[in-house]
Amino acid sequence: MKPKVLVTRQIFPEALALVSKHCEVDSNQRDVPFSPPQLLKKLQRKDGLICLLTDTIDDKVLAKSPQLKIVSNVAVGYNNIDVNAATKRGVMVTNTPGVLDDTTADFTWCLILATARGLVEADKYFRSGKWKYWGVMQFLGHDVHHKTLGICGLGRIGKGVAKRARGFDMRILYTDAQRANPIIEQELRATFVDKKTLLQESDIVTLHVPLFPETTHYISASELKLMKKTAILINAARGPVVDEKALVKALKEGWIAGAGLDVYEKEPKPAPGLTKLKNVLLAPHAASASVDTRLKMSRMAAENCVAGLTGNRPPNLLNPEVLRAM
Ligand code: GLV
Repeated sequence: MKPKVLVTRQIFPEALALVSKHCEVDSNQRDVPFSPPQLLKKLQRKDGLICLLTDTIDDKVLAKSPQLKIVSNVAVGYNNIDVNAATKRGVMVTNTPGVLDDTTADFTWCLILATARGLVEADKYFRSGKWKYWGVMQFLGHDVHHKTLGICGLGRIGKGVAKRARGFDMRILYTDAQRANPIIEQELRATFVDKKTLLQESDIVTLHVPLFPETTHYISASELKLMKKTAILINAARGPVVDEKALVKALKEGWIAGAGLDVYEKEPKPAPGLTKLKNVLLAPHAASASVDTRLKMSRMAAENCVAGLTGNRPPNLLNPEVLRAM
């Protein structure tokens, strides 16, 4: 008998076909997330799960799905899954690292440039028919070239952002729990500093830390107060890394000049007041959304799931302890 797999949301047909070759697939191609009770019901007697970051897979869900052997997330971030609980219950967990780094770094640069130059507001103005003539004082933004870029988290995506910054002749600062090796620092022309220095000296602060308890509200009121009044904050990492309420206050009261966000504390809901502000650019968690990358992510999740259910080691296993305990 083929193993049974639940796919909670729409993924590329190529990836579904790959899973269907080896497994019996129950897939929600309507692309509307399941409610928690619907998810529990659907998970009954399923051996594998391909899910998105909109699905919360906590110990309660795992406890009620005793047949489950693998949870395959179609995302590099996996804060929606309780990996420790899965490990205790002998359930493998996988993600999709690597394939979205460049696409996310590209998008971070979209946010940086569009926020610094007020591109979305300018577009809205043009479409409204209000623009009558060219003017020296119109649409004044902030330069990016030759400014200081502060990267929080020099992982794969942070490095991609730094690499692209060289073309803008920027001074690049970074901070991280661990200092990069000197060859990488030299290649990227990036200088290691502490968080406080980075916040005080950067014109653009961009966040690339993963979401852990210790990075929750990594940027809150006290950090925003350290930043320059002319600085912009970019977040394409995870929403809870920024205290969104504090950010709304900072943007309203001019502690910083602007922000470009792709992620939110309580997606899809913005903090009260956020959407009323003109000095913030808001994208709907779309940094990895290119055709090529989302196809790769879908395929990778499918391959991880099939490997786990056919007696092979999933290529992107996050908790190998589960295999050792078998
Ligand atoms: C997207 O946010 C991801 O983690 O892949």
